[in-house]
Amino acid sequence: MENFNNVTYMTHPLIKHKISRLRDKNTGTNEFRKLVEEIAMLEGFEALKDLPLEDVEVETPIETCMTPMIAGRKLAIVPILRAGLGMVEGILSLVPSAKIGHIGLYRDEETFEPHEYYCKLPSPIEERTIVVCDPMLATGGSAIDAITMIKKHGGKNIKFMCIIAAPEGVKKLSEAHPDIQIYVGNLDRCLNENAYICPGLGDAGDRIFGTK
Ligand code: PRP
Ligand code: URA
Repeated sequence: MENFNNVTYMTHPLIKHKISRLRDKNTGTNEFRKLVEEIAMLEGFEALKDLPLEDVEVETPIETCMTPMIAGRKLAIVPILRAGLGMVEGILSLVPSAKIGHIGLYRDEETFEPHEYYCKLPSPIEERTIVVCDPMLATGGSAIDAITMIKKHGGKNIKFMCIIAAPEGVKKLSEAHPDIQIYVGNLDRCLNENAYICPGLGDAGDRIFGTK
C-alpha cells in the first residue's frame, strides 16, 4: 500500500479491540451502535488534536490566570447518511457545541456509484473545521462525492473520519482530495466483487439501524 501523507491510521489498542468486536457477526445492534460511537470518540480525539488554542483570562479560586481554550474556527460534524449518523454522538461528546450537517448518499447496489439525495450544511460553512464521518470507506465514491459537495458549498478545512477502509478507497479519496486529512481506524485487505470490504464488518448501516 502506497503512503499518503494526508492519511493517519489509528494504532491505539482500544480502537483495535473495539473494531474487532464490531467485525464479529454475533455482535448485536445495541452493542454495535455503542462501539461505533466509542470508536468515533477515540478517533475524534486524534483527528481534533490540531484544533487551535488561544489564551483566555480565567479566575480560579486562587488567582486570575491566562489559560488555553479552543479558539476561532467552529466545528461542523457532517455524517454521510445513514451509517455516518452512528459516529455523531461520539464526536459530539468531545465538542458538544459543534453544529451538524447531513449528506444523504446511497450506493447503487449494481454499479456501486453513489447517488445524492440530501444535503444540508450549517452556515457559514467556509469558516468551520468540518469533520465528515462515515464508518466505511470502500470504493471511496461516497466520500469523494460528499466532500466535493461540501467544497461546492464553500467548505475548506475538511477532515474525513472512517472506521474501516479498503486500500482502494484510501487511494482514490486521497488522490481526489489531497488537501483533506483522512483518519482511518483500520486498513483492511481489499474489496470483494460486491465492493464490500474484506474482512470488514458487513453493511454498516444495516448493523447500526438493525435493518435486514
Ligand atoms: C455505505 C457506507 C458508505 C458507503 C461506502 O453506505 O456507509 O457511505 O457505503 O462505500 P463506497 O466507499 O464504495 O462509496 P450505503 O450506500 O450502503 O448507505 P447506508 O449508509 O444508507 O446503508
Ligand atoms: N458499505 C458498507 O456498509 N460495508 C462495506 O463493506 C462496503 C460499503
